Amino acid sequence: MAVCLRCRVLALLVLALLVHGSVQSCAEFRDGQAGGVVTLCSGNEDKPPIADAGADVVTRAGEVVMLNGIESWDDKNITKYEWTLNSGNQSVRMEKTHFVDQCRLSNLYPGVYRFRLLVTDSAGQSDTASVTVLVLTQEQAEGHTSSVRCERNQD
Ligand SMILES: *[C@@H]1O[C@H](CO)[C@@H](O)[C@H](O)[C@H]1NC(C)=O
Ligand SMILES: *[C@@H]1O[C@H](CO)[C@@H](O)[C@H](O)[C@H]1NC(C)=O
Repeated sequence: MAVCLRCRVLALLVLALLVHGSVQSCAEFRDGQAGGVVTLCSGNEDKPPIADAGADVVTRAGEVVMLNGIESWDDKNITKYEWTLNSGNQSVRMEKTHFVDQCRLSNLYPGVYRFRLLVTDSAGQSDTASVTVLVLTQEQAEGHTSSVRCERNQD
C-alpha cells in the first residue's frame, strides 16, 4: 500500500507534537489528494530552543578562537550553553569567558576540530549544533593570503 509522502509528513508532525506534550489546541486539515482529514495540534507553551554554533572557522596555529552560541534561539530563555570537543587534538584548551554563550579556544595545533554546542532552555528542553575549526600551519596560512584589486576603470 502506498502512503503519500505528504500524509507521512503530517503524521510525523502530529506524532512529534504529541510526544512533546502540553498540546493545547488542534486543527483539522483536509488532505485533498488522499481525501482524508488530518488533525494537527499546536500551542506548545514553551518551544524547544534552536542551537546555533556559529560559522565554521579557519585560523592558524597559535591563534585564539572564540566560539559563540549567541545566535541560538529560544522563545523564552536559554539557561545553559555547553561546548564540548567532538573530534580533534585533545590538547586544545577550552575556557569560559564572561559571556555565557562563549567558549575560548587556545593551544590550537594544526588540524581539524569539531565542537558541539548543547543549549538548554528554562523548560529543560535542549538542542545541539556543531562547528568546525580548521587550524592551518604557518605555511598553509601564508599560502592562503590573497590580494584584492578594487578600482574603477578610467575611460
Ligand atoms: C535567563 O537565564 C539566565 C541563566 O540562568 C539568567 O541569568 C537570566 O536572568 C535569565 N533571563 C531571563 C529574562 O529570565
Ligand atoms: C596535539 O597537539 C600537541 C601540541 O599541543 C602536539 O604536540 C601533538 O603532536 C598534536 N597531536 C596530533 C595528533 O596532531
